[in-house]
Amino acid sequence: METYRIIYASTAARPFGLAEFDRLLLQARIYNYSEGIGGLLLRAGSQFLEVLEGPEAAVAELYARIAADPRHQAVRTIDAAAAGGPLFLPARLGFAEVELTALDRLIAYLDPAHRRALFPQGYDEQEIIADLLLEFVELHCPQVLAQPGDQATSRPQRSQYA
Ligand SMILES: Cc1cc2nc3c(=O)[nH]c(=O)nc-3n(C[C@H](O)[C@H](O)[C@H](O)COP(=O)(O)O)c2cc1C
Repeated sequence: METYRIIYASTAARPFGLAEFDRLLLQARIYNYSEGIGGLLLRAGSQFLEVLEGPEAAVAELYARIAADPRHQAVRTIDAAAAGGPLFLPARLGFAEVELTALDRLIAYLDPAHRRALFPQGYDEQEIIADLLLEFVELHCPQVLAQPGDQATSRPQRSQYA
């Protein structure tokens, strides 16, 4: 089935409590899993960027609900289009807390109003967006790219045996 991808940015309407945000994330993960929606939620203070990928109808329906959520505001669509394939693990919502300056820069780069001027001419816009996102993740939160069952972080380093 073709993957549909929506990327949006938003700003929290007021600060989230720790437990409140944990609950939101858990509910989102359960729902997205049940609908076969994968993606990534990035947070830096009150700034959010979320990538939702999956069946078009399910992704569009979820995005309409998210956009109407009063817990955040200034919801702006960065991209909404059919994609060649998913960038992230299917049916998993990754999450990472990242640095505000870094996330602000990424959002500014991806902003539809700016990117015509910033992106090199003649390239596939979708491809550049995908590259920028993956580059950001590799640099700022590579743990969200780990496959389930990956032991990379707990694997002993060779030097421990030396
Ligand atoms: C920044 C942000 C991201 C969200 N992401 C998701 C998500 O990926 N999946 C999800 O089911 N709900 C997500 N939600 C919660 C939805 O907006 C909404 O509360 C939830 O889908 C339940 O819908 P309902 O309140 O209409 O019952 C998010 C909320 C916020 C503020």
